[in-house]
Amino acid sequence: NPTTLVDRFGRQVTYVRLSVTDRCDLRCVYCMSEDMTFVPREQLLTLEEMARLGKAFVELGVHKIRITGGEPLVRRNILKLFNDLGKLEGLHDLTLTTNGTQLARYANDLKAAGVTRINISLDTLDSQRFNTLTRLGDINKVFAGIDAALAAGFQRVKLNAVILKHRNHDEVLDLVTFAHQRGMDITFIEEMPMGIIGDHDRAEAYYSSDEILRDLRQQFPLHEIADNTGGPARYFRREDNAQCVGFISPHSHNFCDTCNRVRITAEGRLLLCLGQEHSMDLRRVLRENPSDDSAVRAALLESMALKPQGHEFNLQGQPVIFRHMSATGG
Ligand code: GTP
Ligand code: 5AD
Ligand code: SF4
Repeated sequence: NPTTLVDRFGRQVTYVRLSVTDRCDLRCVYCMSEDMTFVPREQLLTLEEMARLGKAFVELGVHKIRITGGEPLVRRNILKLFNDLGKLEGLHDLTLTTNGTQLARYANDLKAAGVTRINISLDTLDSQRFNTLTRLGDINKVFAGIDAALAAGFQRVKLNAVILKHRNHDEVLDLVTFAHQRGMDITFIEEMPMGIIGDHDRAEAYYSSDEILRDLRQQFPLHEIADNTGGPARYFRREDNAQCVGFISPHSHNFCDTCNRVRITAEGRLLLCLGQEHSMDLRRVLRENPSDDSAVRAALLESMALKPQGHEFNLQGQPVIFRHMSATGG
């Protein structure tokens, strides 16, 4: 019997991204439309169901779980899930991707629960721009969240910035400086065409990782290094201060060949690829087998046959994926 999750292309799944809510206190222009409809609460997995899934995955060789959203920290009683997952033996990395607005309140408890690393999204340092890009955010809450995360002593706190032409591409160097002054790495992300988001034109806003790299190399030398985080980012080290800049480039540098991950939506749909619809209804499996974890493991093993070779993102015309990023957790 297979005991690990290996797909048809020989790729082993060791990393699970678990979305705990599709809701968020922000409305970033590249992620959501202004008038989002959210999943009714009764359709969400309970925190206990999520913990059950986490355990089943770890038993099948998964060693990294990243909690995503929407914004994970708006889910009620979320610390309970972190505490449960933090106790799983075999889970080496329990991580969180957050917009940072609630971190001032949560950072110490997350550290105590066993969270190893945190990625915080921040696309600009300017409060007016932040308010425009997120449609309703207060940047000072994020700054306070970053300070709290740094003070709590995680192994790593990383910043994520989605770069859009004419909206924040002129801030790349300032963002790097902000991160590096505080001992954080930073990753720049190419926008992905997920969901219908309104008047923001994605093709026009495209700013490639290569352009960012070119901009930064006018300031300091950067050398690509072998990456060890198990994420999709390519990392470059600065010669002058030994700190890193990462790039997630689904358009210009496809990384599907080495994909090691699956995602679970807040409703318990297992997504085998961010850029495809292949999926399995794990909520049903959980609820039909309330006390049989071997049935859950069997379903996960079976799902490997559904994992497609890669995404088919393109920036022309309609998005190929109608799901919003907030329904998937990126
Ligand atoms: P670490 O490497 O552990 O720091 O994390 P990560 O980069 O995997 O996770 P994070 O939540 O910080 O994600 C950053 C961005 O990467 C988000 O915009 C995700 O959508 C994107 N991303 C993560 N995994 C994939 C993937 O498999 N395919 C694509 N296209 N994008 C991904
Ligand atoms: N394309 C790329 N990244 C996105 N994010 C949200 N929507 C998109 C998109 N359409 C990012 C957030 C966060 C991460 C989880 O995903 O900014 O950093
Ligand atoms: Fe919320 Fe993150 Fe989407 Fe922004 S990108 S609206 S912070 S889920």
